[in-house]
Amino acid sequence: MKYIEKYGMKLSKIGLGTGRFGTRIEEEISFEMLDRFVENGGNVIDTARNYYEWVENGRGISEKTIGKWMAKRCRRSDVYISTKGGVRNENINFFVNLSYNNLLDEIEQSREALQTDNIDIYLLHRDEQERHVEEIVENLQKIQEKIKAKAIGVCNWKAERVMKANKYAKLHGLIPIQIIQTWWSIAAYTPDMWNDPTTTYMDQNMYEYLKKHNMLGMAYTSQAKGFFQKAISEGVDNLDPFLKKRIATPENLERLERIREYSNKNGISPTAVVNGYITDNEVDGIALVSCSKLEQLYDILENCDVIINEDWLKEMAVEK
Ligand SMILES: NC(=O)c1ccc[n+]([C@@H]2O[C@H](COP(=O)([O-])OP(=O)(O)OC[C@H]3O[C@@H](n4cnc5c(N)ncnc54)[C@H](OP(=O)(O)O)[C@@H]3O)[C@@H](O)[C@H]2O)c1
Repeated sequence: MKYIEKYGMKLSKIGLGTGRFGTRIEEEISFEMLDRFVENGGNVIDTARNYYEWVENGRGISEKTIGKWMAKRCRRSDVYISTKGGVRNENINFFVNLSYNNLLDEIEQSREALQTDNIDIYLLHRDEQERHVEEIVENLQKIQEKIKAKAIGVCNWKAERVMKANKYAKLHGLIPIQIIQTWWSIAAYTPDMWNDPTTTYMDQNMYEYLKKHNMLGMAYTSQAKGFFQKAISEGVDNLDPFLKKRIATPENLERLERIREYSNKNGISPTAVVNGYITDNEVDGIALVSCSKLEQLYDILENCDVIINEDWLKEMAVEK
């Protein structure tokens, strides 16, 4: 496992996404995935208050499953929990409320579900454009103090808003936004991936900003839902139509050929190449992965130490 030392933590560069834990992935398998992940050196576990809120009784189940697992199967200090708040779902619609009272309310629910007072990484799940960024920074500050978060950050924010927030934080001696979670992958951005205008991707503005300020990027959908691995093992024509629609642009099909070639030439798995794009990136990155089967997790963990050539990574740079 590769690690990055930041904000007083030694974080594994592969983070386990747990959105489906307790719902689409039953508790027993979720526990097993968490066990195998930690056994293999992983320590970053990513969840959110609203995950799978869109299935019956889904809200909070991912956090609850992690809480149960931590209580039974690990020491709290073995892992870093990253959770998110500020969002409610109604079917596919997101409602954002970044007021202090709402965040505090959600934090209390997260703590109860996770069975812990300390949340290591706390992230706002979306931006609320209508709310002044200054108020949001002040709210985050109070939340950080309350939960003793080691780092705070945002998901799906545009670079300009982060810059404005951090200017204000600096001017007033407050903690700046330290972590950005966004779609970031060796796959080039496609609007079809989420079909949700409230999501963002790692564009050049954000990338340069993270590089300049030595900030941490948490890359979600870092494996592009397994597009490259599946296309190489099963063939593009045999891919699930939904996956084809989401990712298979001419640019990503070209990228597929480059990944296939690099993988064959160097005798390493496509998974190592896909995740290495984030874990060996010039910008400090954690690849957040999720799996529907244990075999996928084994594949990721088996191949997570491979170093990808720096020049090749630069040629493949997708942040534009
Ligand atoms: N902040 C946000 O707004 C946000 C948004 C999205 C995600 N996230 C976080 O990021 C995490 C990861 O996101 P994601 O689920 O989109 O990531 P992902 O790893 O790109 O996609 C997961 C899917 O990829 C396929 N896969 C995984 N490992 C594979 C392997 N070794 N070989 C072939 N296929 C493989 C599986 O597809 P099949 O199931 O089809 O086999 C799996 O369900 C989430 O769990 C969540 O914690 C955050």
